[in-house]
Amino acid sequence: MSSDDYAAALSAVAAEFDACLSQVLQQEPSDVPRLWEAMRYAAMAGGKRLRPFLVVTCAGVCGGDRAAALRVAAAIEIMHTYSLVHDDLPAMDNDDMRRGRPTLHRAFDEATAILAGDALLTLAFEVLSDPLTHADGQVRSDLVLGLALAGGPRGMAGGQMLDLEAETKPEAEQDAVIRLESMKTGALFAWSCEAGAVVSGADPQEREKLRAFGAEFGMAFQITDDILDEIGDAEEVGKAVGKDSDRGKATLVSLWGLEGARDAALEHARKAVENLDFFGEKADLLRASAAQLIDRRV
Ligand code: IPE
Ligand code: IPE
Ligand code: MG
Ligand code: MG
Ligand code: MG
Repeated sequence: MSSDDYAAALSAVAAEFDACLSQVLQQEPSDVPRLWEAMRYAAMAGGKRLRPFLVVTCAGVCGGDRAAALRVAAAIEIMHTYSLVHDDLPAMDNDDMRRGRPTLHRAFDEATAILAGDALLTLAFEVLSDPLTHADGQVRSDLVLGLALAGGPRGMAGGQMLDLEAETKPEAEQDAVIRLESMKTGALFAWSCEAGAVVSGADPQEREKLRAFGAEFGMAFQITDDILDEIGDAEEVGKAVGKDSDRGKATLVSLWGLEGARDAALEHARKAVENLDFFGEKADLLRASAAQLIDRRV
């Protein structure tokens, strides 16, 4: 599959996904319009929609229902958006730009950004536990558990804690950096792929293969994020660059240099696609997404 075909597929899913997300974030008659406005500001601001793409594509590989997969994707993207809103706060990375526009706390204020993050996180679980997402309560419960594990202390939130600690430990061991990257980013990518299988009623082997694909994909993705922080163009990536080295943060780029980090990302992408052999041609779009990771500029 050519990179143009992949780009077209990604933007087609993004458009379909945005319509679903917009519905989920529909402000009902509400006493708190400012909170909904802030949530929409953060969530409807573009973004690559890579996690939703993986949920929907993995569900497709398993023959699942697309509408259900889109709602699961919405929950995961909402969780991801909350993590970005809080990551950008002055107490964390203190960033002014996100997705090509002012960060939420800049456009609104800090307290609103904290609350909008809290509300997005909570809404993610509301979406998953709503029978609209899936009729089977056991499937809904599996989806809730998976997102809790991926986003909580064993996953993203734990990884973010280790990431902050890495700012004061530039001499951190490579195993520690790999672990924090796999927790802060890999966990949600792994779950995005696995959730596509879960919502489709896939068998345990399919589920495990897609999870393993997503975990490796997520590592390659975070390493390329660290590379872009070093050599990317702020306008193109839509956020400030040079932050990790300014803060003296230990990353795989600081430990291994750009070439070493690129080799590691390539290796993770290679390992990711090994898990797809099982699915044959059905997984070509996933193969293309992994191939495109290494040279991404956004
Ligand atoms: C940014 O994620 C945070 C990381 C985990 C590196 P993305 O690069 O997927 O951000 P958006 O969703 O496209 O804005
Ligand atoms: C954040 O990592 C990962 C999250 C879980 C939000 P970064 O701090 O490197 O993400 P960017 O570079 O600000 O998007
Ligand atoms: Mg950060
Ligand atoms: Mg950051
Ligand atoms: Mg970064």
